[in-house]
Formats: sequence, structure tokens, C-alpha cells
Amino acid sequence: MADNKSLSGAPISLWQAPFFIIGEKKTHKPMSGLAFKIMTIIMSIRKIFRNIKEETELARINTGDYILDFGCGPGFNAIPAAQKVGDEGKVFALDINPRAIEIVMKKKRKHNLTNIHTILSDCDTRLKSQSIDVVYLHNTFPMIKNKENVLDELYRVLKVNGKLSYMSRTLSRIAGRNPKIDDDLRKYLEHENKFKVIKEQNKHFVFEKIIKT
Ligand SMILES: C[S@@+](CC[C@H](N)C(=O)[O-])C[C@H]1O[C@@H](n2cnc3c(N)ncnc32)[C@H](O)[C@@H]1O
Repeated sequence: MADNKSLSGAPISLWQAPFFIIGEKKTHKPMSGLAFKIMTIIMSIRKIFRNIKEETELARINTGDYILDFGCGPGFNAIPAAQKVGDEGKVFALDINPRAIEIVMKKKRKHNLTNIHTILSDCDTRLKSQSIDVVYLHNTFPMIKNKENVLDELYRVLKVNGKLSYMSRTLSRIAGRNPKIDDDLRKYLEHENKFKVIKEQNKHFVFEKIIKT
């Protein structure tokens, strides 16, 4: 990959709140319990202003679809997606943080859902190649350290013409400290000739997987 297409972020500065540090620190460790709690509280407040149904369905998910929610957090997209895809479908909710996995498991029980499967990982999904219809990468990408590896993994698991639903709102940008990430990601994906943008709505992008030429 050419240097000017690099997705790596800037170094950390001291004024940032503790949980923001994990975004660019050179470690794959999840944020601490306290930091995750703070993030979850902020996200729950922000959820009031999110149109969850719209963002979950922008990539057009259907009954029977297989979905991967990469960086699922408290499952704001994973739960409605599981309700939408129904019993024939599956949602794989992946997060680096065991607390996120616990929350999703709790919600799974509360909503009586049997089609959610949790994965504790920072990159490797252990899913079959070309098995996923839609990947959500919502408000997570700026925080990921091994960005290229994650994109390769998402490309691997997506079916041909599968969709990558991508957005990064303010909190994840601050956490990852890379406000230009949308442009960087778009350039990177186009340069790599693996995805094309098929929809864009208020900085929420839907990419479609294409076969590398
Ligand atoms: C801001 S939350 C977003 C949650 C959810 N996608 C949403 O939009 O509501 C970001 C999540 O990404 C997770 N995360 C960060 N780096 C990750 C990595 N390398 N692999 C998996 N999850 C990661 C964090 O633990 C956190 O739960």
C-alpha cells in the first residue's frame, strides 16, 4: 500500500480523557471497565439523537441475511438487525471488549433472540469466507489500531456484492483522533479496488464489495 494511503493515526496528546487514549495507543487491549462504562453512558445519551432504524437498514438488510456488527458496543445496531433478519438470519456481534459482549448477551436474553452470536476479538472473526451479507462498521473504525488487517478481514467474510455499512460520528472520531477518517477510508478502499460506494447519506456510507481486478 502506498504511504499516502496509510490509515494509521496521529500520536496521543495528554489532554485527552483516559478512554480516548485506547484509540491510537499501540496496543490491542480493550478500554478499562470504567472507561467502557463512561463510553456506554455517553453513547446511551447520544442514542436519543440517532435514527437507529435508518442506520441499521441503510444497507438494506433482509430476512435471512447474515450480518456482522464489527465493534458492536452495547448492541444498538445488532439487536434491531437480529429482529429484522429473523430466525433464518444471523447476527454476529463482535467486540474487543468483554463488557460489550456481556451487554449484548443480556439484551439477547431480554429480547428472547436466538440468532445473535457474540465474538470476542479485535480483528479475526473466525467466520467462513464470503458468508456475510452486511457488515456494520459503525462508530468504531477510528478506534481500531490494525485498520488494514480489519478491512482485509471484512473483505474476506463479505459475500461478493455484500455491503459494508460505515459511519463514524463525533465520539468515535474523538476517541480515534482522526477526523479525516471518512476520506482516508474512501481513498484507501477505492485505491485497493475492493469496494465501491453505492450510497451516501449524511456521512453514512454503504460500500459494496467488488472483486479485485
Ligand atoms: C463507540 S463504540 C460503537 C458501538 C456501536 N458500533 C455503535 O455504533 O453503537 C466502539 C466499539 O468498538 C470497539 N472496538 C474498538 N476497537 C476494536 C477492535 N479492534 N476490534 C473490535 N472492537 C473494537 C469498542 O470496544 C467499542 O465497543
